[in-house]
Amino acid sequence: MAEGARTRTVADVMSRQVLTASPSETIAEASQRMNERKVGSVVVTDDTRVVGILTERDVVNVAASGVDTTIAKVSEWMSADPDTVSSDTEISVAFQSLVEHGYRHHPVVEDGHLVGLVSMRDTMRVAHIQPVEHPSQMDAPRGLEGLIVAETEVGDVRGQEGFYHYRQYNAVELAEKRSLEDVWYLLFEGELPTKEQRERFIEEKNQYRQPPENVKQLLPAIAAAGERFTPLDALRTAVSLIAYAEDFKPSLDISKEELRKNALQISAVIPSLIMSLYRLNKGLEPIDPNPELGYSANYLYMLTGEVPDPDHARAVEQYQISTIDHGFNASTFTARVITSTGADLGSAVVGAIGALSGPLHGGAPSRALDMLDAIGKPENAEAWIRNAVEKGDKIMGFGHRVYKTDDPRSVMLRGVAERLGGENVEFAKQIEKTVVDTLAELKPGRKLYANVEFYAGVVMDKCGLPRELFTPTFASSRVIGWCANILEQAADNRIIRPSARYVGPPPPVPVPDPE
Ligand SMILES: CC(C)(COP(=O)(O)OP(=O)(O)OC[C@H]1O[C@@H](n2cnc3c(N)ncnc32)[C@H](O)[C@@H]1OP(=O)(O)O)[C@@H](O)C(=O)NCCC(=O)NCCS
Repeated sequence: MAEGARTRTVADVMSRQVLTASPSETIAEASQRMNERKVGSVVVTDDTRVVGILTERDVVNVAASGVDTTIAKVSEWMSADPDTVSSDTEISVAFQSLVEHGYRHHPVVEDGHLVGLVSMRDTMRVAHIQPVEHPSQMDAPRGLEGLIVAETEVGDVRGQEGFYHYRQYNAVELAEKRSLEDVWYLLFEGELPTKEQRERFIEEKNQYRQPPENVKQLLPAIAAAGERFTPLDALRTAVSLIAYAEDFKPSLDISKEELRKNALQISAVIPSLIMSLYRLNKGLEPIDPNPELGYSANYLYMLTGEVPDPDHARAVEQYQISTIDHGFNASTFTARVITSTGADLGSAVVGAIGALSGPLHGGAPSRALDMLDAIGKPENAEAWIRNAVEKGDKIMGFGHRVYKTDDPRSVMLRGVAERLGGENVEFAKQIEKTVVDTLAELKPGRKLYANVEFYAGVVMDKCGLPRELFTPTFASSRVIGWCANILEQAADNRIIRPSARYVGPPPPVPVPDPE
């Protein structure tokens, strides 16, 4: 239960303007008023005493039975003596009662008289939703915010505390102390590797770093296909091609071992695909992976052919570790939904890349840097931000669905940026402060802070990664998290298939004959 929900009562959230009907009214009269007020139920009262409730479902049943709604009486079709709650009932208790009975509304009564109506939606604004036995009877909050839809051992995010973890370890501590390969092993195998396990794992994954020969031959065509080169689109196409060329089978039909092999192959090849496609588009030959280098040093190496500055390699590695996984974000959820159908791992990763490409998810770091360019000087910042927010624009790199305090990734990356130093870093820090202060004034109570994307752009820029590779670099590490989630979903699967509330014109309308 969310903090605060324990003490809040139905009186805090109920509607006081309740649509009522008398038992002697006709169904047609009552349903017309429901339509006009756009509500799904009407409370039936005798004077102000609650005697029944009539819902849309009841109205549909009347229509389906063929009874004339202008004659049928409310009293004949309503649910008599409905369960009610009092206005001092705790919200969580009202929520539980709605869920258990499969109701959408409870009339609220005082001394037997109607004083309000509380809906599932009202209670969910404050109650933290726990999995229930009949989720199809529940209204989920918009954007599925706060809704628990699965159990996972991969990791989690605690938004109020500004903390996230991979398995049982603090993710920021992992980024400070471990290599990307170690964290990758942790995500796939459930534990940090011993020296021997690490060596074996690196050897195993390195055999997949090169794209298969038949795909390699097609990469120049992919890199040149778009009128405008969008690296993430090219990557998604190449990943799809690999899964097809390598005959990835539906997860439903293969063993755990084969699915893990698919996962390792796709995760290992993605960095090479990103850099090969980028270079090919610039008319340059792809550079083969360097067996001497660790994951992130090799990533930078494949961009230029030069062994990178170790500080740059470590900074990119810390960024990549910090973005491997992050709870049930949109792309991870996408990967799990696709896997839940039993589809192959390639399909799930392609779908996840698509979800990541959106500016509200992974497409923000280059936009955050574009914003720094557009602001130009610290003294322009406040006016620029005010203008953007007043126009209804979002400030890229700020705000988060889960964090309502500092995003620990942004705190860590600010530290990495400071270590790298330079004018742009100081400028970014000033802008961060101005954005946070201005948003606190213009959007009070929303708790908007820098998210991972803000300093990610600054760090990647400093390490020589071009802006167009920012989101692909995010994908290069997040693929490990997607794959860990895919393996977990496939190991204990049930198809993810929710429901939607139909809010269009009431059916069934007779289908007109064609003109
Ligand atoms: C991350 C994000 C998508 C979360 O969205 P969400 O949980 O649906 O939050 P909402 O969009 O409902 O935001 C809540 C309120 O804060 C405001 N807000 C959120 N992020 C904002 C931002 N970056 N700039 C200005 N206002 C912002 C919203 O306008 C809204 O205000 P309102 O109550 O007046 O309508 C959103 O903060 C955002 O678009 N940020 C910018 C893009 C970005 O950096 N994405 C990378 C995420 S890691």
